[in-house]
Amino acid sequence: MCGIIGYVGTRDVPSVLLGGLWRLEYRGYDSSGIAVIGNGELIIRKVPGKLSELEALIKRQPVSGGIGVGHTRWATHGLPQENNTHPLIDCNEEIALVVNGIIENYLSLKDDLESRGHIFRSVTDSEVIVHLIEEDLDKGLVDAVRSTVKKLTGNFAFAVISVNDRSKIVCARHDAPLICCYNSKEAAVASDISGVVSIFNDVIYIPNDSIVVLGKGKCNITNFQGREVRVTPRKVTIDVKDIDKGHFPHFMLKEIYEQPKVLHNIINERIVGGRVTLGSELGISDAEMKKVSRILIQACGTSWHAGLVGKYIIEKFARIHTEVDISSEFRYRDAVLDSDTLVMAVSQSGETADTLAGLREAKVKFLKVLSLVNVIQSSIHRESDGIIEIMAGPEIGVASTKAYTAEIVHLYLLALYLGSLRGFVSKVDLEEHIAALTKLPAQVEQVIRLDDDIREIAEEFSDARDFLFLGRGLNYATALEGALKLKEISYINATGYAAGEMKHGPIALIDHKMPIVCVNPRSSVYDKMFNNIQEAVARKGIPISVVTKGDRRTRGISKHSIPIPECHECVSPILAVIPLQLLAYHIATLKELDVDRPRNLAKSVTVE
Ligand code: M6R
Repeated sequence: MCGIIGYVGTRDVPSVLLGGLWRLEYRGYDSSGIAVIGNGELIIRKVPGKLSELEALIKRQPVSGGIGVGHTRWATHGLPQENNTHPLIDCNEEIALVVNGIIENYLSLKDDLESRGHIFRSVTDSEVIVHLIEEDLDKGLVDAVRSTVKKLTGNFAFAVISVNDRSKIVCARHDAPLICCYNSKEAAVASDISGVVSIFNDVIYIPNDSIVVLGKGKCNITNFQGREVRVTPRKVTIDVKDIDKGHFPHFMLKEIYEQPKVLHNIINERIVGGRVTLGSELGISDAEMKKVSRILIQACGTSWHAGLVGKYIIEKFARIHTEVDISSEFRYRDAVLDSDTLVMAVSQSGETADTLAGLREAKVKFLKVLSLVNVIQSSIHRESDGIIEIMAGPEIGVASTKAYTAEIVHLYLLALYLGSLRGFVSKVDLEEHIAALTKLPAQVEQVIRLDDDIREIAEEFSDARDFLFLGRGLNYATALEGALKLKEISYINATGYAAGEMKHGPIALIDHKMPIVCVNPRSSVYDKMFNNIQEAVARKGIPISVVTKGDRRTRGISKHSIPIPECHECVSPILAVIPLQLLAYHIATLKELDVDRPRNLAKSVTVE
């Protein structure tokens, strides 16, 4: 959500800004712009729409200079039109600002600023920041930023440059992500590491509630009160090819195809000498883990679905009562949490605002938080007591795929770990589970090989208006996830449901035009699910079933069936979701939609 980039140095500034914005594009946006200081004045280029349009504008009207900031805006306050696009400038056109976040008290600040004569060019909440800084510029840019941040409520990360000092970028962050890099020749700031990946070897994760003054060979970090903050830079561990599509037409397809490799790496790393190891940052001792009497998993979207699978598996193997909450509900519902409750956050990005707020809510109540995250050094990583890195590698496509299966496999490993610790999983059971997990990468590979068959099914249904997805037990979450994948990238109305709930209402939707994706691999609820498919067939629904290879019963009553390999029930949510990811992908591409950047969505949802 909104991408920030800033650069000062010897390279061609517009190219660095544009390159960074392209790599931040995956975060989601609907307009973009840059500001460069050349010949002592701010030169602004901005457009609503795609980055290619900004690039074309800069080609038609070139800019040059030694310092600049750039932005991709995901509209919250005000339409995606030129006046609302960042960079935003002050009344005197001295400073340019790019912001990610939401300023909750902007209306009262704006009233005050307008009463003091400031002219607003946009209807954004962010514009108050540039005018507040302007009011205090006589103290110098850094102090003006410091006094401004104290007046803001909400969450924000921003970078500002001034025509009066072309050597530095001043940045600040409160509850929104921001990183920076520097060496003797150049310095940059960005929303995340992908913005600067090809330029720097080291990165600084800017601490929350701090202000950074950044220039060539200079990076001064202070907290909002002005006290110096020391931060050790870290090595940049991703490179350009990790965030490149390679020979794939879309990131989403690349990431679906990467799943065997990701699972292979996880299993190699996490299962050592016949035991589960969850990494060096678990942060919660075995003794503390033994005391846990309840787990509360809070997450959003796809990560919430992974949490639902986690609930079934943790309760089954560790016998710990486990609840799963949508973070935006958890954070406001004043849940009953006692001291033996372990709160878990599950998040690919590690920056999802509601999940982060849920984590903080738990910490206010003095509870330990263990998080599953993909992005290392993200806010959720840094604020948790313990973390398990899900090891999916950079995920760029807005539709989460490989992070989902990496989350599930880690929740499975956690369940085995807790189960062994508490004596519910014997050595023999553990061996059986490890064998099931070890087979998984090759089995996922087999499912991916069905890609062409799945595309044919997609061709038949790409014009459907509605879809139903049904599952039970562990694959109830698979049905929800399949529906979410389809709706977010194809814009088809898709409903995921627990199949047993159908006759309590949704069955009324079924008619001869309704494709119904039925997830029914062999499992403890196979017969129950089979009956539910029969009920759908009796109402002329069109079942497309995910079944275990060789299962003739469900195949016999389905219009299409997609076979997954024979597997342990607990890994079936991983195998069964792959066809649903591919189905959604192909339907969306057949409809010629922007699969990696679906409308209205952002990869990293950093606002509430
Ligand atoms: O980064 P997170 O895992 O916290 O993100 C949570 C959701 O925003 C995310 O899973 C979203 O639902 C995806 N677009 C689903 O594909």
